[in-house]
Amino acid sequence: QPRYAAHNEPVLGYAPGSAERAALATELRTQGERTVDVPLVIAGRAVMTSTQADVVCPHDHAYVLARTAQAGQAEAQAAIAASQAAAADWASWPLEARSRIFLKAAELLAGPWRQRLNAATMLGQSKTAVQAEIDSACELIDFLRFNVQFAQEIAAQQPLSSVGVRNSTDHRPLEGFVYAVTPFNFTAIGGNLAIAPALMGNTVIWKPSATASLSNYLFMELLHEAGLPPGVINFLPGDAQAISAELLACPHLAGIHFTGSTAVFDQLWLQTAQNLPTYRAYPRLVGETGGKDFVVAHASADVDALCVALLRGAYEYQGQKCSAASRAYIPASLWPLVKAQLLDLIATLRMGDVTDFGNFMGAVIDRRAFTRLSRAIAAARDDSGAQVLTAANPDDRVGYFVPPTLVEVADPTHALMTDELFGPVLAVHVYADATWPELLKTVDTSTAYALTGAVFAQDRAALAEADAGLRNAAGNFYVNDKPTGAVVGQQPFGGARRSGTNDKAGSALNLLRWVSPRTVKETLV
Ligand code: ALA
Repeated sequence: QPRYAAHNEPVLGYAPGSAERAALATELRTQGERTVDVPLVIAGRAVMTSTQADVVCPHDHAYVLARTAQAGQAEAQAAIAASQAAAADWASWPLEARSRIFLKAAELLAGPWRQRLNAATMLGQSKTAVQAEIDSACELIDFLRFNVQFAQEIAAQQPLSSVGVRNSTDHRPLEGFVYAVTPFNFTAIGGNLAIAPALMGNTVIWKPSATASLSNYLFMELLHEAGLPPGVINFLPGDAQAISAELLACPHLAGIHFTGSTAVFDQLWLQTAQNLPTYRAYPRLVGETGGKDFVVAHASADVDALCVALLRGAYEYQGQKCSAASRAYIPASLWPLVKAQLLDLIATLRMGDVTDFGNFMGAVIDRRAFTRLSRAIAAARDDSGAQVLTAANPDDRVGYFVPPTLVEVADPTHALMTDELFGPVLAVHVYADATWPELLKTVDTSTAYALTGAVFAQDRAALAEADAGLRNAAGNFYVNDKPTGAVVGQQPFGGARRSGTNDKAGSALNLLRWVSPRTVKETLV
């Protein structure tokens, strides 16, 4: 029987006058007129709690977009019970039957649900139409499809048999539930952290980021419309510490599927270590964490391509992609040209309400991010070791707007070059051309992270040196391209060192973390 072959969902363009722009504008108007109640979903049932959290639109913070239910200890217990109740039946479904549900979900998302999720991602997470399209539509559809292909490839991996003996591998789900803890910045990542273990036959308890709760909830609704049985994925926005304490103390915790900060992943890891003797099995810990993603240019780099990559890599989605360029190393011979060209490009960027299709940037996610970034930019202006080359300052009168900011930093080990800021701030260190070999060592060793990175050079020898010298500095390495925008099925995504466990999202490697294979030997009689 031919196996399923996934393909990437084409990206729609949203050109003026296009059908997709009209459909999205209608959906934005409808969603933008009301405040949605976002419930918990436990055993397939929507549950509203007595306390709720207001979720505001980042580019228009007077507008409350969602009132999100807040799970605590009791709801976490209910979610554990629901996932346990659903586990045995779900684990008994053949992979083909489970796959059909996720492929149906892909079809719904590519069709009638597309603009609903895009609009929610634009309003709730302040993504432009294009950034929403490549996230909540294409990337999420791709995860749904490619996971199915990879799961079928895994099922087909079978050992040799011999005369009189039949050997097989049964790719069992884990015993217990997987705890998915998911970020605000990609609707697709939230979805994938929940669906990947579920496709492999596990039940899941999904704690979304508060600020992405609307788009994530809509995806839950879509999954149920596609036929996902109740209790397979339980949706639990709320008090992160109370939920984690409850779930991590449960003997049935089978794994954690995480994307977020290094500090929170560390905390979860330490908590599981403390509870280790109570678990029925060693939990699988899979996480993508922080980054300080680099662009390093050699003197032979194409300046036009480099500047576009810096602009898009550092400022698209307000620098809040985990893959965003946040440190750059430019040779002194190119810097005057790069600096002038980059500042010219930055001056053309429009920032504002993302429902205005002409804007390139929206707002940062919430007040906490706004305050953190405002302080960092103010500190850089006061710092004699840094020179802020852009004039605009953050402004939160209407939304949490942080302008694209370019900072030149003399010392490559300055905090601006080493610490994650998660916003539209690009720090640049200018190096003497002749110090290229030492520079590569600095790029490799000056931060704790290793998520994404890019090198720009036309000289093949320089590219080879960068490839070797930076081999462990990034889990996703780009040659003459920006370090963002990995496509599922083409560039499996994940980082190492303090950036995570590098179990590539959207890959067989990731799906294998959610199975516990049983080897069966049968002597034929
Ligand atoms: N997968 C996202 C990117 O590569 C994070 O930009």
